[in-house]
Amino acid sequence: MNTEKLEGIARKLVADDKGLLAMDESNATCHKRFAKLGIPQTEEARRAYRELIVTTPGLAESISGAILYDETIRQQKKDGTPFIKALADAGIIPGIKVDMGAKDLAGYPGEKITEGLDGLRERLAEYAQMGARFAKWRAVIVIGDDIPTQGCIGANAQALARYAALCQEAGLVPIVEPEVLMDGEHTLERCREVTEKVLRTVFNQLYTQRVMLEGILLKPNMVLPGLSCPQQESVDEVADTTVTSLLRVVPAAVPGIAFLSGGQPAELASARLNAMNVRFKARMPWALGFSFSRAIQQPALDIWQGKEANVSAAQKALSHRAACNRAARRGKYSSAMEKTGV
Ligand code: 13P
Repeated sequence: MNTEKLEGIARKLVADDKGLLAMDESNATCHKRFAKLGIPQTEEARRAYRELIVTTPGLAESISGAILYDETIRQQKKDGTPFIKALADAGIIPGIKVDMGAKDLAGYPGEKITEGLDGLRERLAEYAQMGARFAKWRAVIVIGDDIPTQGCIGANAQALARYAALCQEAGLVPIVEPEVLMDGEHTLERCREVTEKVLRTVFNQLYTQRVMLEGILLKPNMVLPGLSCPQQESVDEVADTTVTSLLRVVPAAVPGIAFLSGGQPAELASARLNAMNVRFKARMPWALGFSFSRAIQQPALDIWQGKEANVSAAQKALSHRAACNRAARRGKYSSAMEKTGV
């Protein structure tokens, strides 16, 4: 394993207050989002949308890396340039989602296990050869009555660690994503308790599977009250709870933490990330950034609506959200940025 190379890529992905853009939605997820806006659910519409993203002017000013999907890494711009080349030429490091999705966990009603370890070594070798420099695997943890169970947390943590070890063997930086979902009525405190338990189990497994922590990035959820919980804490309370938890459970050797957005409104995700950096920057051993899909893409998708005439306006919205999140990493985001559109 080339440890220096892995550490170098991981550090580059969180350097200069930039962040990651997740554009790795599976076809099913992409179609769900297209259907809501009346966009045709076709391969060409998916390709055109991804071309809009990778050709956004100035995207590399705020985005260090983009996470692609198996279909997308093989697609091209209309002029024949592969997306992966367009990204690399723009100075954005290409990455790839390699899990095969979350399926029902046998014996554990209501819980999920992420699949995709079979044949992963061969798939990683192909992606590395194509030019990917990092990978992503998402585990899904649901909060409900009597769940998550230790059986579910343990199975997902072991899969994440085995994936991470295989990535490092292949020279790819693993993004380790255990997502505790926002859905439900649970409180902020319950999310904190579950998130800490999940992260402790994940780091134990990473240690057991001999994963080099300097060569990974962690992609966790923010600690949030459930979407249907009547009590919704303030931005500062969310920031304090989230970072306090992470300080307890994420080793200092990890170069960076890049949050998923999980369905939060885009502006709120920026405000929360900003508050964390304002209040804790001096005490955090790792970079605290973002790896958002919806919180960067959704406003742009709403504007695009599948129409060529809207491409430029959609690209401006995409680049604006990316810039807001870069500002949030510096603790310089404010709602005024939303008004000026800068
Ligand atoms: P969201 O930011 O929309 O949660 O997506 C992040 C991601 O990559 C999910 O795996």
